[in-house]
Amino acid sequence: MIELGVNIDHIATLRQARRTVEPDPVWGAVLAELGGADGITVHLREDRRHINDRDVKLLRETVRCKLNLEMAAVDEIAKIALNIKPDQATLVPERREEITTEGGLNITNQKDKIKNIVQQLQNNGISVSLFLDPDLTQIEAGIQTGCEAIEIHTGSYALTKNKIDEDNEIKRIIKASRLITNAGLRLHAGHGLNYHNVVRIANIPKMKELNIGHSIIARSIMVGIKEAVNEMKKIINPQNIHQTEDVF
Ligand code: PXP
Repeated sequence: MIELGVNIDHIATLRQARRTVEPDPVWGAVLAELGGADGITVHLREDRRHINDRDVKLLRETVRCKLNLEMAAVDEIAKIALNIKPDQATLVPERREEITTEGGLNITNQKDKIKNIVQQLQNNGISVSLFLDPDLTQIEAGIQTGCEAIEIHTGSYALTKNKIDEDNEIKRIIKASRLITNAGLRLHAGHGLNYHNVVRIANIPKMKELNIGHSIIARSIMVGIKEAVNEMKKIINPQNIHQTEDVF
């Protein structure tokens, strides 16, 4: 079975657009879990643009499935991770000016630093995954850090606009996958996956975990908007409800 990690950052993005308390990503995590999520994934960014320290603390107390903390390999966030103790930490690159995580981690130029953080997290009972492009040099370097899993960045695949490019990206991802699973590591993938393009990635042999955020949160607005409007109508026109009840 492939585990689904639901990335709930976008619930917090909506909350931060108004600097208010709703929608609460912790509530969203509970609902995602009720919907069958095997994991809840959040990215505590250095600029706290969406998920904040309070969210991570409360999620640790409430999430019953796997809590996966995406984090930059920096001391400030590593300290928080060691304190919160998520079940899994996924090391990702982070640039302040980016809209979302762009590209995988470059570990060939910081192998010792990454290895050190991987060990610190593991010594505290946290399983570590590295978010890497399907680039064999990066994957080789990732395997050498001693991490438990590698999450292949599927962003380039998701952006392809024709069948030839899509097939080429799938070939790259399959090659990278083989390297990961032959080394005995868990195979994860994520970024840009949606209800259409996820199938080819889910069909990759030995795939263990997919982390999906944007498409699921976007769809939840569409499948939930009708009920939300209906609830508001009932509140602003309570007499209509009573009149209907009278009729019956
Ligand atoms: N995996 C990682 C490591 C990510 O950084 C993200 C985006 O935060 C995702 C998966 C989910 O990507 P998307 O929101 O495009 O589904």
